[in-house]
Amino acid sequence: MFAKDCLSGRHVLVTGASAGLGRHFARTLARAGAKITVAARRKDRLGALAAEIRASGGEAHPVQIDVTDAAAILAGLDAAEAAFGPLHALVNNAGVADPRRILDIDEAEYDRIMATNAKGMWLMAQETGRRMIARGQGGQIVNIASMGGLIATRGLSAYGMSKAAVIHMTKAMALEWARDAINVNAICPGYVSTEMNDYFFDSEAGRKFVSTFIRKRLMRAEDLEAPLLLCTSGASRALTGAVFACDDAQGYTLY
Ligand SMILES: NC(=O)c1ccc[n+]([C@@H]2O[C@H](COP(=O)([O-])OP(=O)(O)OC[C@H]3O[C@@H](n4cnc5c(N)ncnc54)[C@H](OP(=O)(O)O)[C@@H]3O)[C@@H](O)[C@H]2O)c1
Repeated sequence: MFAKDCLSGRHVLVTGASAGLGRHFARTLARAGAKITVAARRKDRLGALAAEIRASGGEAHPVQIDVTDAAAILAGLDAAEAAFGPLHALVNNAGVADPRRILDIDEAEYDRIMATNAKGMWLMAQETGRRMIARGQGGQIVNIASMGGLIATRGLSAYGMSKAAVIHMTKAMALEWARDAINVNAICPGYVSTEMNDYFFDSEAGRKFVSTFIRKRLMRAEDLEAPLLLCTSGASRALTGAVFACDDAQGYTLY
């Protein structure tokens, strides 16, 4: 589908790479030839992932970034660029969720979700865009939103709001940075079992929930590889402001 080396020598930074989708994205992009900066808060896990990628012939460098901390983002991007040069692409993936209903989410939890998912993605993309514009060679920004940002789902109110913000941010950045040859796109995955939700999907209630999906299955991280490679590689110079719902038809049965 994509050339094995479609990202050969390109520097891609993946946030939230210490677990779940981000870890899978980092491995996928490394296999496509990219030099990967893996970022998150848990340094030990990043070190292990970078070592694993290097052991399989790839190039990877761990950088600790808390996306809720603007100073950490600046320092992290400096460290990433010192290791592998200017960024070709950002995979803006770090995120948190809380499945409680609206009346059970207190203010502190609402703030945590928004600070990570909406403001954290904004700060990462904003600083990346600033650097890409200064360099003058364009780039690719891929925001990992969610089907929860497209449709209202019980128990995902604040989370869904944060992802709706990411979807809007994607379009706004695509518009403002179009002249700078920066493509900004969003991927909206359906449910994939990761540390974010596996306690639920491993339960009886979780299995019952999945049985209501049309295809009666969860997605796999592998199902997101095609839109990920499409958006990070810059395969089409015209692809910007797009929002890819990639959910295995789950969205028809959620709510
Ligand atoms: N799994 C799904 O069903 C699903 C569906 C749709 C969308 N998504 C989205 O996909 C993305 C990845 O989710 P996942 O399922 O892979 O979840 P996960 O397994 O819980 O991983 C979340 C990642 O985000 C990082 N993270 C959280 N807060 C952070 C912060 N303040 N600063 C830096 N990194 C932070 C975590 O690393 P540290 O704790 O080490 O910092 C971890 O690497 C999220 O944006 C999520 O909303 C997931």
